[in-house]
Amino acid sequence: MERKALYAGSFDPVTNGHLNIIERAAKMYDSLTVAIANNPQKTGLFTIEERVDIAREVTRHIPNVKVDTFAGLIADYVNDNGFTAYIRGLRNVSDFESELLMAQMNARLFTGGTETVFLMTEPEHSFISSSLVKEVASFGGSIDGLVPEYVLKRIKEKLG
Ligand code: COA
Repeated sequence: MERKALYAGSFDPVTNGHLNIIERAAKMYDSLTVAIANNPQKTGLFTIEERVDIAREVTRHIPNVKVDTFAGLIADYVNDNGFTAYIRGLRNVSDFESELLMAQMNARLFTGGTETVFLMTEPEHSFISSSLVKEVASFGGSIDGLVPEYVLKRIKEKLG
């Protein structure tokens, strides 16, 4: 049986912290789907199509990674696609508190025995978030090393 994992998020845009989780999770499973949440109530810097393009580009070197989008409950997407594992990255204690609640709620909603699997973020990525990266970049601060080169280019194009 194929062991399929899922890593979901807003990815507006993918950062080096996300990429590190993606690279590690892809080694643990036969395939890893990176699923971008399509939430019409939440507008981001990048459109969903742009985020998909960015995620595909920065994961091109990992053959067992695919990129998709989902809308609505993550549990529905998980159940419809039969994932073995739902990967989450943990950066700090406050992530743990919210992730524990979500994992417990999702455990009730997952119908096929999918496990939420936590990977600890590497220390050099523990302070990174997509919002912070965008905020620093919007005021002209350096985000070198925090996002892949391709993302750096796309953010510069977007922000002018
Ligand atoms: N490295 C760098 N940044 C990271 C990171 C890592 N390893 N892990 C998380 N982050 C950042 C993200 O970039 C994001 O930053 P932002 O808020 O500035 O954009 C922030 O931490 C939160 O990430 P995450 O918890 O993954 O939230 P998200 O908004 O990216 O995605 C969903 C959350 C979409 C997966 C979740 O809300 C969801 O499943 N929604 C559907 C509805 C649902 O089912 N809800 C759950 C009910 S139990």
